[in-house]
Amino acid sequence: MSHSLRPYLEYQADRVEAVLAAHRAPGRVTGGTVGPRLIRFFLNPAPNIRFAAIKRLADDLALAMQVPTLTIERGKEGIILEFSNPNPRPVTLLDLLAEAMPIPLSTVLLGLTDTGAPLLARLAAPEVAHILVAGTTGSGKSALLRTMAASLVLTHTPKLLELLCIDPKGRTFPAFQGVPHLKRRPITQIPEALEALQSAARMMEARDRRGEEPPTDSDAVQGTSVPRLVIFIDELADLLMQGEAPFTDVLTRLVQRGRQAGVHVVAATQHPSAAILSSVMRANFPLRLVGRVVSAEDARVASGRAGTNAHLLNGRGDFLAVGGGEEPIRFQAAYMDEKDLKKQMTALYGGAAPYASQLPMLAMSSV
Ligand SMILES: Nc1ncnc2c1ncn2[C@@H]1O[C@H](COP(=O)(O)OP(=O)(O)OP(=O)(O)O)[C@@H](O)[C@H]1O
Ligand SMILES: [Mg+2]
Repeated sequence: MSHSLRPYLEYQADRVEAVLAAHRAPGRVTGGTVGPRLIRFFLNPAPNIRFAAIKRLADDLALAMQVPTLTIERGKEGIILEFSNPNPRPVTLLDLLAEAMPIPLSTVLLGLTDTGAPLLARLAAPEVAHILVAGTTGSGKSALLRTMAASLVLTHTPKLLELLCIDPKGRTFPAFQGVPHLKRRPITQIPEALEALQSAARMMEARDRRGEEPPTDSDAVQGTSVPRLVIFIDELADLLMQGEAPFTDVLTRLVQRGRQAGVHVVAATQHPSAAILSSVMRANFPLRLVGRVVSAEDARVASGRAGTNAHLLNGRGDFLAVGGGEEPIRFQAAYMDEKDLKKQMTALYGGAAPYASQLPMLAMSSV
């Protein structure tokens, strides 16, 4: 918690307790969490006080606390009061990376959860393996792909991890030009994208035959091991619509069998509908990162389940991580402005010197 927020939180907790006492529904604020956008208080009511009596006081509490909205829910921590953070915290990629270090091998940083913890995803885990990012225009998909790619580049040497970046619009990955983890420059042409994916699939099959797997933790890193390959695809629908059959074919192979061989697909699309993504392919993206969508129906299609309320998200990096049977986790994607990212990458990898002398500090400390 930032120090500057403490007096505000204490003041608000006093207000809450004063309003409750004045309405003969006494209770105490026993703790809480501060997220990038939302603050939660945990409230412990006196034993004879009913939940409904407190819930009825939402408007009076919001007035006394001078917050625009206040929700009151029951949770495992007791009664939860939720209101907006007056200083929404910008979630900057480099700050959050520094906070989350040391980040384990083959783990990608996504952002900050609404309870204020860094959210990481381990690619080697079966619950992650391949990631589908969905959301309407402006939800922050491309920015999130850049964040994931940057977090991997900054925490892995090129011997441990390689990236393949595909983006038919050519706007997502220019900052990664020249980064040694990319064996090819970011791909914008459809035929080259197909050829690169087919070549990745051949490599996956060769690794399968030879029983080669990239290391899953730092202790197992050896000079001879093969690097993990993470394939980023923005505007997946563009590829699937322009070159449909062969793309569906090769991507299905990659998501069905890639994890074991250390090949992962991270793809973004506005519309993850059945018309665009085959059901087999969709079923093989265990982790969905869902940004703002336009309707409850889109929320269901994007997340693969009902009731996520992804159509009520704010956009610009406000996401839900939806996976397996667990409750979706709301998070603010870590962000770095494209120009700053370009500067950062140029500073690290801009010269012609060999990779080793240019490794960023973050990479050093994680391996
Ligand atoms: N995590 C974030 N934090 C703060 N601002 C963000 C974040 N992500 C995105 N934005 C803002 O939202 C804008 C749109 O983001 P982005 O281009 O990634 O959206 P998109 O989902 O890829 O949209 P499109 O489908 O049109 O390509 C960005 O230019 C940036 O200003
Ligand atoms: Mg985009």
